[in-house]
Amino acid sequence: MNILAVESSCDETAVAVVRDGREILSDCIASQVELHKLYGGVVPEIASRKHIEAIYALADEALETAALSRADIDAVAVTYAPGLIGAVLVGVNFAKAAAYSLGVPLIPVHHMRGHIAANYLAYPELEPPFICLVVSGGHSLIVDVQSYTQFKILGTTRDDAAGECFDKVARVLGMPYPGGAALDKLASEGDENKYPLPHTKLSGNALDMSFSGLKTAALNLIHTSEQRAEQLDVPSLCASFSKAVCEMLVPRTIQALQESGRKKLAIAGGVAANRRIRAAFETECKRLGTQLYTPPLSLCGDNGAMIGAQGYYEFLAGKRAGQDLNAFATRSIEEG
Ligand code: KG4
Ligand code: ZN
Repeated sequence: MNILAVESSCDETAVAVVRDGREILSDCIASQVELHKLYGGVVPEIASRKHIEAIYALADEALETAALSRADIDAVAVTYAPGLIGAVLVGVNFAKAAAYSLGVPLIPVHHMRGHIAANYLAYPELEPPFICLVVSGGHSLIVDVQSYTQFKILGTTRDDAAGECFDKVARVLGMPYPGGAALDKLASEGDENKYPLPHTKLSGNALDMSFSGLKTAALNLIHTSEQRAEQLDVPSLCASFSKAVCEMLVPRTIQALQESGRKKLAIAGGVAANRRIRAAFETECKRLGTQLYTPPLSLCGDNGAMIGAQGYYEFLAGKRAGQDLNAFATRSIEEG
């Protein structure tokens, strides 16, 4: 089954063709990052306009790269939540028109479910159940993936998302948007023990996370050193910050794994590209004898293929949308 998959929830317009949920026939992305860099973050109105400009040609490119014609498409899958509402709507409207004109089913896909499904593309043998840490620019979730279409949130951030904090600290250090990857690169040259940063203690659910205190502490450190005209060791601050984020994410995810009794652990989302986080999970999983799934960097960030992968399993579970499909800025991964 060939699914044409559409993703437009933030600043990447993406269209892919995926076969049977596991095989990428094409995965085309038009990134708007260079444009949003000028503003230090995504400008929603500009994002929506650029999606409209890019999406039609990108769909043609996706078909061409897959060496398929329109008649070979069996269904259209689309991210319908969560994301920047205007941006998501562009993809949803395009997908509705495509499904209608091709006479094929329309499948709504939750963006964070798509991130998790990126693992199915990278690991043909991976099947639920497993525990997944999903960390992106807008969300940080520890999820029990009970089946391809049933999810239970075990832990979530109480404030900012991990990616948001990476980007904010990177921005204050003068790195262009989105700074997470640049901060990560610089961190590899630093001493991660040089700047001790606080560990936020939370009451309630032991698997919940918090990043805003950590972010504020890092920003205060940067501003104080500026005011005192002290030389900041930027690579070491990046390394210390990455370590602190890791210490928020990794032990909780491992605790969730152990408490759930699941045997497999996956990570997903843009922040899952972080080398410190990947290395920490590799060490922990080796120690525990747990199988770890880490998607290649190309499938960590937003892409259309992950929507095609999840779309296939949503289709098998009977999920369909009509021409009245709406977009949602927020929606729980559990609702789908
Ligand atoms: O999943 P994603 O592409 O988009 C959203 O759904 O938000 O995640 C983007 C986020 C950004 O905050 C970006 O800075 C962060 O992922 N990111 C990283 C790295 N690569 C991307 N954060 C830390 N280390 C990285 N290597
Ligand atoms: Zn994403």
